[in-house]
Amino acid sequence: MEISFGKQIEEISAMASKDGDGLLHEICSYLKSKNSKYNWVGIYIIDGTNLRLETFVGRPTEHTLIPIGEGLCGQAIAKKEIVNEPDVSANTEYLSCSIETKSELVVPIWHKDQLVGEVDIDSDMPRAFTEEDESFLKSVGHIISKDVYVRYK
Ligand code: SME
Repeated sequence: MEISFGKQIEEISAMASKDGDGLLHEICSYLKSKNSKYNWVGIYIIDGTNLRLETFVGRPTEHTLIPIGEGLCGQAIAKKEIVNEPDVSANTEYLSCSIETKSELVVPIWHKDQLVGEVDIDSDMPRAFTEEDESFLKSVGHIISKDVYVRYK
């Protein structure tokens, strides 16, 4: 059985309190390993007018630099809103990473009042993400926001 989001938040907070260099990658790896629907987990950081892929776990992607406003990733930043797409094939903005991906969740990360990056999750399952996933990943974003901010340009 998968462990609850509450328990995962506790464990992620404990990981973050150790504050190592590889924390963001460790968090991606943790999220993918604990949630079977999360087939690809990555963190993009704002770099000028682009989003730069800082770290990820899952299949390799060609989308390592995405202009803000493009793709679901760039849309989430331009609109400053979560993008929860139940069917990527129905969204013309979607930039494909893998033919297996069916749904995607992009959650912006704020540091204080500043938008600094996002968590991006792809699933091989259609309609994989609920409002609970959204709030869970918002909380994860809060926990790692300082680590994202120091890499923000
Ligand atoms: N699908 C994203 C691109 C990044 S990959 O999911 C890793 C998008 O539409 O922006």
